Amino acid sequence: MTTPQLFQPTRIGDIEVANRIIMAPLTRSRADEAQGDIPGSAMNVDYYRQRSGAGLIISEGTQVSPVGKGYMATPGIFSEGQVEGWKPITQAVHDAGSKIIAQIWHVGRITHPDLTGGAQPVAPSAIQPKVAAYTHKGKVDVPVPHALSVAEIKEIVQQFRQAAANAIRAGFDGVEIHGANGYLVDQFIRDGSNHRTDEYGGLVENRCRFALEVVDACVAEIGAGRVGIRLSPLTSFNDVSDSHPQTVFGHLVEELNNRGIAFIHFIEGETGGPRDVPGFDYAWARQAFKGTYIGNNGYTREMAIDAIASGKADAIAFGRMFISNPDLVERLKHNATLSEANPSTFYTPGPVGYTDYPAL
Ligand code: PHB
Repeated sequence: MTTPQLFQPTRIGDIEVANRIIMAPLTRSRADEAQGDIPGSAMNVDYYRQRSGAGLIISEGTQVSPVGKGYMATPGIFSEGQVEGWKPITQAVHDAGSKIIAQIWHVGRITHPDLTGGAQPVAPSAIQPKVAAYTHKGKVDVPVPHALSVAEIKEIVQQFRQAAANAIRAGFDGVEIHGANGYLVDQFIRDGSNHRTDEYGGLVENRCRFALEVVDACVAEIGAGRVGIRLSPLTSFNDVSDSHPQTVFGHLVEELNNRGIAFIHFIEGETGGPRDVPGFDYAWARQAFKGTYIGNNGYTREMAIDAIASGKADAIAFGRMFISNPDLVERLKHNATLSEANPSTFYTPGPVGYTDYPAL
């Protein structure tokens, strides 16, 4: 038996990876919030080091600005303290022979003033999603967001650009733009959350404009070979919807291909739920996009091996499985038993459920 291709090295854009197993971005809410959402505690470093068997680690979502934050104690990548904080993490991952990119994130309307330092959430349109935020005061409905002006949109594009520059300074190998799961970029793409009548709304080209301006800004800053994007064309997570997902995401995929970015990371189906949701043709996207296709959502070992061997994907991202199996790549290689993650410790402070899952 030869080693399945899943476990063999490849290139993702400019990034050489030791295998095709990727650690998906995972919110863990263990940054130092009191000091300004700063990562890099010894515990944070351990967590990432333990998981550096992955060919590539995609960091937890890191907000590009204070108002881009939607959960307690998520790290940022806009302040100097945050850039310094990331350095021991990227260093530890590199020392262990892996690669790590920063997921750069703006939550848009999926937040509450208690998480943003008092700022009103922002969005393409003033449409309140049916979503609760978890703040230090408990569970609260998110408010009606402020509809961004064009000047404000341009500022956020620059924040993404600065985040990409900061990521490289912090030692990351690149960035993943968070274009999925009903956060700001996705809010612009989908017609359920974008009712604008200017150049950022209406026509498919207009709804993709913000996503592509963010991509272009990051590419101009750090190069196309170090930029990727995560998309979830069919998710309803965070109360997003679209009347014609194939049309809008089809246009986006073609435009992303024209830009030569490193990868598209697809959440196939419903985020953390069923994969067999109709409405988008991932096989078409795989053909239309010439960069790396990363598949994600509920993959088993067999599905991952088969997807790579059959050419359906170039790499597979695992989320939950990396929480409870720090040595996931070794376990998959040897078809060893996998541990189940405990959801009650996903977002709790401290090492329990974070750095205390043992390797085999
Ligand atoms: C979460 O913190 O629950 C979360 C964050 C980012 C996602 C999905 C879920 O893309």
